[in-house]
Amino acid sequence: MRQLWKNIKGLVGAYDTPPSYLRGGEMRSFPVLEQAWLAIEDGVIVDFGSMDSFPGIADWSGLEVLDCEGKYVLPAWCDSHTHLVFAASRSGEFLSRLEGKSYQEIAAEGGGILNSARALRSMSEADLFADARKRLLQAIHSGTGSIEIKSGYGLDAEAELKMLRVIRALKEDFSIPIKATFLACHAVPKGNWTAQSWTKHIVEKVLPMVVQEGLADYVDAFCEKGYFGLEETQLLLDAASAIGIRSKVHVNQFNIIGGVKLCINSNALSVDHLEVLDSEDIAALQLAAESGNPTFATSLPGCSYFLGISYTPVGDLVNAGVPVALATDFNPGSAPSSNMSRVVQLAILKMKMHPLEAIAAATINGAAAMECSDRAGVIARGRAANVIVTHPMQGLEDLAYDFGKEPVDKVFIDGVNL
Ligand code: NIG
Ligand code: FE
Repeated sequence: MRQLWKNIKGLVGAYDTPPSYLRGGEMRSFPVLEQAWLAIEDGVIVDFGSMDSFPGIADWSGLEVLDCEGKYVLPAWCDSHTHLVFAASRSGEFLSRLEGKSYQEIAAEGGGILNSARALRSMSEADLFADARKRLLQAIHSGTGSIEIKSGYGLDAEAELKMLRVIRALKEDFSIPIKATFLACHAVPKGNWTAQSWTKHIVEKVLPMVVQEGLADYVDAFCEKGYFGLEETQLLLDAASAIGIRSKVHVNQFNIIGGVKLCINSNALSVDHLEVLDSEDIAALQLAAESGNPTFATSLPGCSYFLGISYTPVGDLVNAGVPVALATDFNPGSAPSSNMSRVVQLAILKMKMHPLEAIAAATINGAAAMECSDRAGVIARGRAANVIVTHPMQGLEDLAYDFGKEPVDKVFIDGVNL
């Protein structure tokens, strides 16, 4: 099947030779080709250019033409941090928060992650898969074209493996890039466990099982006061590094305890959350970025919005030349939305990101933060046509200006309009 899209108001992120990521001030120069055309054949982008040099149509047979007057075409969103596999909503906890309890208080009472773990353990793999599949379809319909998914609601070997097998089944079922992260140290399970003994158990017993089944692309820990400290995080990252698995780590959500530096020194692929950051953290991220082997700074503004906590100081990271990624953190406790357009909107409105910075962070840099830059994040010849067509807009700032409107008109995966 051949498709030709013409009169595109702006073709965003289109490259002859794409870089694998953009850092600091480069993010604002994510390219926009104005008045453009795009050609797709059998689900693959074959060519693009400016309408000024449009070659015309020689062969009309089997050609589908789409007029994109007034509309932008973007690479599909790359959501590099989600907890999309879970058993049940936690809207009851949300109500408790409205009645005055904090996220941490609810967790301390056995709610939060432990609540999700209780529900997940009693759910069958087939049912978990069926629900996760529906959620993934919904995310894709809202414009997501690649995604990372974590375990971490199992909190015992069997249930963690169950979650990871569900993610593997999603990988087999969908053509889009999907990465699996073993969130090994998410919360200390009930019983006689301490953060230390649980981490030791993970490293000695569970990680080898996960590796043996080839279930994880990355490992993750919740490095935070009351969860897992520096020692435990280091133990996990060392064990993973020793077998060639990189990490994507929850750090600096509520407190600064030195996790950012630890992760960078352990060659983490990304540090995620970063609602609180100090100048030492930023300097360490800057140094890594300048070395050419960056640790991506992943901001999750949906979590800040939903929990009413601070937003990542993205401007400082950009000024320091750090590559920033944006992701949803989709989960039932702190960010119950898989909608990346909403994340981009929040990034612009609440973190003052320039529209092109936010788009680059949600596409090319998101792809790099889950090592699928060769398949996602840009528009380039030979790539799968996983793209978004927006509703007509005056400019890309309308992504946030029209804050009540859904900006995505159509989503194409492998050239197919969903
Ligand atoms: O990224 N902070 C740790 N983990 C998740 C939320 C977990 C939950 O509340 O279910 C997050 O926010
Ligand atoms: Fe998370």
